[in-house]
Parts: sequence; C-alpha cells; structure tokens
Amino acid sequence: MVDARIGTRAFIALLGDWRVTATGPSYLALFDRIRLLILDGRIAADTRLPAERDLAQALGVSRTMVSAAYRELRDAGYTRSVRGSGSVTRLPGRAPVAGHDATGDYIDFTKATMPSYPGLYAATERVMGDWAAELGGTGIDPFGSLALRQAVADRYTERGLPTSVEQVMITIGAQHAIALLARTVMARGDRAVVELPSYPHAYEALRVAGARLVPVTVSARGSGAVPDGLHGWDAAELAQSFARTSPAIAYLMPDFHNPTGESMPAELREQVLRDAARHGTVVIVDETTSELDIDRPESYLPFAAYGDSATADSAVLIGSVGKTVWAGLRVGWVRATPAIIRKLAGARFSGDLGTPVLEQLIVADLLRDFEPVLALRSEQLREGRETLIRVLGETFPDWQVPRVHGGLSTWVNLGAPLSSQLALASRAQGLLITAGPRFGLDGALERFMRIPLGYSPGELERGVAALAAAWRSVSSGPVVSSTDLFAEVV
Ligand SMILES: Cc1ncc(COP(=O)(O)O)c(C=O)c1O
Repeated sequence: MVDARIGTRAFIALLGDWRVTATGPSYLALFDRIRLLILDGRIAADTRLPAERDLAQALGVSRTMVSAAYRELRDAGYTRSVRGSGSVTRLPGRAPVAGHDATGDYIDFTKATMPSYPGLYAATERVMGDWAAELGGTGIDPFGSLALRQAVADRYTERGLPTSVEQVMITIGAQHAIALLARTVMARGDRAVVELPSYPHAYEALRVAGARLVPVTVSARGSGAVPDGLHGWDAAELAQSFARTSPAIAYLMPDFHNPTGESMPAELREQVLRDAARHGTVVIVDETTSELDIDRPESYLPFAAYGDSATADSAVLIGSVGKTVWAGLRVGWVRATPAIIRKLAGARFSGDLGTPVLEQLIVADLLRDFEPVLALRSEQLREGRETLIRVLGETFPDWQVPRVHGGLSTWVNLGAPLSSQLALASRAQGLLITAGPRFGLDGALERFMRIPLGYSPGELERGVAALAAAWRSVSSGPVVSSTDLFAEVV
C-alpha cells in the first residue's frame, strides 16, 4: 500500500548537497544519498518518490542519470515499483536501521542513551508489595498513579519550583508527552518555534500535528561554527521568531540541548517566558536530559522557575527517566497548569489508556532518592566525554570536538560537508551513526556529526576506530558502491 508521497521540492531539500566530493559517477552519489534518507528515517517506508522526469528537471541533470540511481535503489531493495505509482520506498531485509534490528555485530551510536541503572532490579523487587495492592483496581488512570505524581511534584519542589500533584501528569516517556502536547495545545497550520539542530522525533511529532516549523539556531561551543563566546542561542533571533510569527508553541531544550550539549543562560530563559506570555505561546520545555550534569559551571532551576506570576504558566515542562534510569521503563511526565493537565488527560484516550502501573511504582520508588542515580550518570558521562575527547583528538586532529558540560552527546564539526557519506561508510565498518542533517530540517548540517557519550570507554574506542576506517574511505574516493555494503558484516 502506498500511503505517502514526497514532493519534488521537499525531496530536493532533503537531498542537500548530495554531489559534494563524490568522485564516482553521479548516479551512485544520488543513489547513496537517497539510501541514507531511507535508512535514517527521513523518508519513511512506503513513500512514493518524485517521478524520474520531474526530479531530473528540478536537479538539472539528465533523466538517464536519475533512472540509473532509481534502478540502483530498486536493485538494492530500497524501492519497489508500483504500477501507476512509480518508485515506492521500502527497507531491505538485511539493512540495520536506527532503532531496529541492530544486531550484536553493530556498534549502535544512533541512540544517545545510557545502559539501565544497576539499582533498577532491586527497586523492582522493593515495590512488589505495592504492586500486589494495586491489583484490585482497574489499573487505568490517564493522569497517572497518585504516588508517582506526588514523587514528581516533590522533586520539582525540592529543586526550587513549588509544584502540586494537580500540576503533574504521567506519560509513556517524554516522546509521548511531546506528541500529546502537539496534538492538544495547537491547531493544524499553527507556527511552532523549534531549535536547529534539534531532537528529530520532536520535529516529527510537531509536523504530524500540522505545525509549521520556525527554526532558531543553536551553535555548539568550540565547534568552529561560531566565534567562541557566541555559542548557544542567539537572543535576538529567538526574540524575532516570536515577534515575527506569534507562534502557538515553542519546543525548546534549554539544558544540555540534544545534540549540541548547550545550556541556555538565565536571562534568556526569562526573555523567552516574557515573549511567550506576550504572544500567547505555550513553551514546551523538554527537560529529559536536564539533570545529566557533568561539571556545568552554573546550575539552573526547572525552566518555569524563571517566570513570574504573569509568565511562568507559559512553560509546560516535560521530564522522563528514559535517560537517567532506563529508556525501557517508558515513563515520563508533564508539569503544567492544572487546566492544561486536565485537557491532556481528556485528549489522551484517543491514543492510549495510561501508563503501565508497575513501571510507575518503580519510578516513584527511585525518585524518592534520586541523587545516587544522578551521581552515577555524572561519573559515567564524564568518563565517556574524556574518552571521546582523547580518542577523537588522536584520530581526527582536524575535527572540532566541543567539551560539553553534560548531556548525552557532543556535536562534532568534521571540517567538511561529509556527514552523510561518513554515516554510510560507517555502516560498512560495523557502526551505525546518525548523520548531522537528521537533526535539521532541510538537508543542511552536513559538517556535523552527533557522537554519544553514554557508552563504555571500550565501545567508544571501537566506534571511533570504525569511524576512522570509514573516514579514510570517504576522504580517499567515492563511498558509493553498487554492491551491497551489508553483505560482509551481517
Ligand atoms: C531531547 C529528548 N526528548 C525526548 C526523548 C524521548 O524520551 P523518552 O524515552 O522518555 O520517550 C529523547 C530521547 O532520545 C530526547 O533525546
């Protein structure tokens, strides 16, 4: 079944600079770029690609060249021909895809996560008595269990933002919270201010809800993208984006921004809340990684604490234990006004009937004494950062590797627009990694690669060794090859 199509203009934007440095035949460079877009999810499976003739015309190349690229895609299993629909994307059986099927043979750097917290099993055993007590009930509550809502509210209060149970709702992870908010607090066609780069599944959730995205830039420190001292958010650009578009929502990650690791200064947090209140904007503040501090010189309160009685309610905070305890728990939350919480709970049933009870009990138990969890993560991330800085420095002296103060990744400047080619070549070396443009909107960011910190030193060293082998093949000629790159590694 073909249920989606991508227009020629949108397709060309995603292709970006596909010809850059490819010294092989152009049709193979085009094949390779389209293949990566399918593999990393920027073009979904079952999407109809533009017709050969239209694409050739728009790219200013011969139709024969586009036909040859499309033939390669078909032969390698990335498209199928559907009568009357042209070329329709598919995922070949053996290609490992980010977030799926990655076998033990691959090192997977596509996920910026941490291994499960060692105390998780013991916490699960501790809550068994509470679990038994729950079994008499229905187990369904769109707001979440009272015990966990209380534990979340108490943590906000302890961290400097007084919060009541009525201001908290439990969700199935932060991603669920983003998607639920997107379809509840804005209407199709509304503007949404987003950061560029940003967390790609947030872009997706906003787009599915019909948002028109308004990007504002975030630059990584020491990445060479901006002069030192000018990293992070541009306060004037952010203010203009509100003034120009009166957005219905803004989606921001002010602490250890994914992927750059940047944190927003306090004055800018206040400015955002003032602008939001003026324009009636709901600011969705994704604090999923906000407590992953290694050695940040400043400490910050939860975002809403930077508002006053007139502005604080514009901030809707999202949290999760996905990056601190374990992504497999699938527990997150929203902190907002009681009115927004009630609205979200009402809207929830069309998509799901609540968060699993046992996982909520476990998280409530862990949140009551969370410092050991954060202390361990800080130590592990410090080790990851130091390993990466050392190994990347030795292997790639020309790359600019920001020394982040926390969060799960660093945003490396490769010095050349080769990120997509490098990501593809890395697969042939047994490393899955996400190319820079996946964190953007229009095929740009080819000079950048997100590298995760949350792996063991051994895994990081192996991953960088694979990157080094891939980099040699990219710098010494075309990455593209008509043979199946997966054959020798799966
Ligand atoms: C910034 C950000 N927000 C949200 C999520 C999703 O979190 P969860 O696992 O809680 O759904 C992620 C996970 O990668 C993330 O990086």
